[in-house]
Amino acid sequence: MQNLSSRFVNTSKNKGSCLFRFRRTNPNEESAMVLYLLCRIDEVQENELKQFNLKGNEILVINRNGKFYCLQARCTHAGAPLAEGELENGVLKCPWHGSRFNIETGEVVRGPAKKQLRSYDGIVKDNNLFVEL
Ligand code: FES
Repeated sequence: MQNLSSRFVNTSKNKGSCLFRFRRTNPNEESAMVLYLLCRIDEVQENELKQFNLKGNEILVINRNGKFYCLQARCTHAGAPLAEGELENGVLKCPWHGSRFNIETGEVVRGPAKKQLRSYDGIVKDNNLFVEL
């Protein structure tokens, strides 16, 4: 999980189900992002893979040595639940047919999957993990 706080400014709190609304500090980027609370960081132990559901999105949270990454939770090859996969040196291995994905980008490192995983941006704030949808 990238720490995006240097690129975003918190402009409001508690609007609907969105707890934080961030404005991009770089005027060349899109004007706003909305972050949603996904989980507390102590819900995902170090080197654990855990799936959460947020507004119809299945999101896999990976805690690798205290750094958090959020990816789509189903393999792009045949839909395996990636929370049942394995983490090997920063690479996520699918439990069904062994595709491997870069956890920082979601890119395919090794097939049979051809399409990369969606990667979610977000931040850790006050022991909570927020993601952009
Ligand atoms: S379902 Fe993941 S490699 Fe086939």
